[in-house]
Amino acid sequence: MTRPVLIAPSILSADFGKLADEIRAVDAAGADWIHCDVMDGHFVPNITFGAPVIKSVRGASKKIFDVHLMIAPADPYLADFAAAGADIITVHAEAGPHLDRSLQAIRALGKKAGVSLNPSTPENVLEYCLDRIDLILLMSVNPGFGGQSFIPSAIEKIRRVKTLVGSRPIDIEIDGGVTPETAPEIVKAGANVLVAGSAVFKGGSQTSYASNIAAIRKAANA
Ligand code: DX5
Ligand code: ZN
Repeated sequence: MTRPVLIAPSILSADFGKLADEIRAVDAAGADWIHCDVMDGHFVPNITFGAPVIKSVRGASKKIFDVHLMIAPADPYLADFAAAGADIITVHAEAGPHLDRSLQAIRALGKKAGVSLNPSTPENVLEYCLDRIDLILLMSVNPGFGGQSFIPSAIEKIRRVKTLVGSRPIDIEIDGGVTPETAPEIVKAGANVLVAGSAVFKGGSQTSYASNIAAIRKAANA
């Protein structure tokens, strides 16, 4: 199935001092989804924000809030993120022993369920859960920080995941080191959602966000 390429700016690279304004700006600049990177300082070596912050900025955009949980455990907080206004909630397969249970819990909250894999995690962990998954988020950097370089082995992984997914209605999202230079290979391999933090928020103004998003989109669709 061919899905249109979507751009999901990661607010990790936004100015947190004016986060709602940054979301309004990136929305007006052409973002398809708003990607929210939640980090706990335990599953990943960095801390960002939690459900209360997402709740407070939710009103800044009507677009899909794509919430990437880099937290362990995740299950005790799923209801909070659902109540905060997440549309998609993605957990890491490495974050707990019961991925199938986490996915059922997310769907029971009425949200789309995502699974993320670190660069070193093989895609076969998805195999028995495919019918419970709406989105697969492949990390192309080790999660924790924006501005890292794209890990090339992610391309082969996208291809394998695309084959695994077959005709199921599952989005394949790539996260880390996405730029106009890396986007063409990513999309060619089979991903349809591109997360980009530093490549979108560089320049610090709505005008630059618009040209940054347009550059990624153009490269992705070339
Ligand atoms: C990494 C986060 C990414 C990150 C991407 O842990 O999950 O979403 O913000 O940042 P860039 O696009 O700068 O690599
Ligand atoms: Zn992310």
